[in-house]
Amino acid sequence: MPKITALNHVAVVVEDMEKSLLFWRDALGIELHELRDVPAEQSQVAFLPVAGAEVELVMPTTNDSGIAKYLAKRGQGMHHLCLEVDDIEGMLSQLKAKQIRLINEEPRASVDGKKYAFIHPESTGGVLVELYQII
Ligand code: CO
Repeated sequence: MPKITALNHVAVVVEDMEKSLLFWRDALGIELHELRDVPAEQSQVAFLPVAGAEVELVMPTTNDSGIAKYLAKRGQGMHHLCLEVDDIEGMLSQLKAKQIRLINEEPRASVDGKKYAFIHPESTGGVLVELYQII
């Protein structure tokens, strides 16, 4: 059975990365671990580690991506939470078998070698959930 092993990160969608870092990095004093562009998702992301998990700030870099549309429609705020799983393919099959609506039927690969997939908020009680398998 695939197993959820950790809360990896909580993601917040922002419209201005530098302005958001004035709060998360400078006012709260959380170390900025990583700031990078993710062309595949047409976004820029910042990771700020907190006690074994991370706060992820996501800023759209184009106007027509999924994340840009989300920001235009719902404004800044909580975007998703990410759970680590030891077997992402196994978990996606298990979810499909239970009629859970998935955004990604197959895992995608990030540049740093993680596998990830999103579960639709319709099946989760209104929260976008990301699954990560760290390889
Ligand atoms: Co994420």
